[in-house]
Amino acid sequence: MGGKLVVFEGGEGAGKTTQISQVQAWLRDSGWVHRIQTALALPASEEPLCLTREPGGTDLGQRLRALLLDGSLTTAAPMQAQTELLLYAADRSQHVTQVLKPKLQSGYLVLCDRFTDSTVAYQGYGRGLDLNLIDQLNQIATAGLESDLTFWLDLEAEVGLNRVHQRLLANTSVDRMEADTLEFHRRVQSGFTALARQYPQRIVRVEAQASEVEVTQVIQTVLEERLKAWYPQLSPTS
Ligand code: TMP
Repeated sequence: MGGKLVVFEGGEGAGKTTQISQVQAWLRDSGWVHRIQTALALPASEEPLCLTREPGGTDLGQRLRALLLDGSLTTAAPMQAQTELLLYAADRSQHVTQVLKPKLQSGYLVLCDRFTDSTVAYQGYGRGLDLNLIDQLNQIATAGLESDLTFWLDLEAEVGLNRVHQRLLANTSVDRMEADTLEFHRRVQSGFTALARQYPQRIVRVEAQASEVEVTQVIQTVLEERLKAWYPQLSPTS
């Protein structure tokens, strides 16, 4: 029984982190994790659930993440768009090989905060880099791995950035990507919109302006349907 890769995408401040932890809790509480564990004959100590993210899902990736989000670079000698693209691709290559493929091969459910669509939206639509080049790099970095399901938390760029800037009031800093212009983040948003149109089977749009509880409910409903289709023999009703 192969694992499944479920990705969470969205612009800044869309609430991915909160929703991923809600999904994690629900997968446990609803018994899905336990049923998959039993089907894989795993010991009680080995839960077939993996939470990870890009950039930063490996030790090397955490260092790349720090470089990518370091706001102090911007003024003196800004990071070039192509350099940025290659660093995200390097992070992905390491992550796919070291974490995603082994976990999926072991039958795990993998919840990943961002994946290939972020590169298309941010470096393609946001920075204006060539979309074919990005597809090629994504292909190299993933060795063909695609998500089984992607939740796109859709929130207007203004609203998301406002949420991010609220954090300033709580004394948390804004990172290099978050600090970019509203126009940049609007282009990112249009990138996700285009991707959702292009891949309607894989990408599910979730209205992220709704309350946290409502967003969680929508995600759970869609995910439960997919889980039943992926693992018909493990459905609670069968
Ligand atoms: P996060 O804080 O939501 O985890 O994401 C880190 C930042 O990296 C966020 O601003 C989006 C950006 N990003 C890209 O620009 N390209 C990519 O390929 C990925 C994975 C993230």
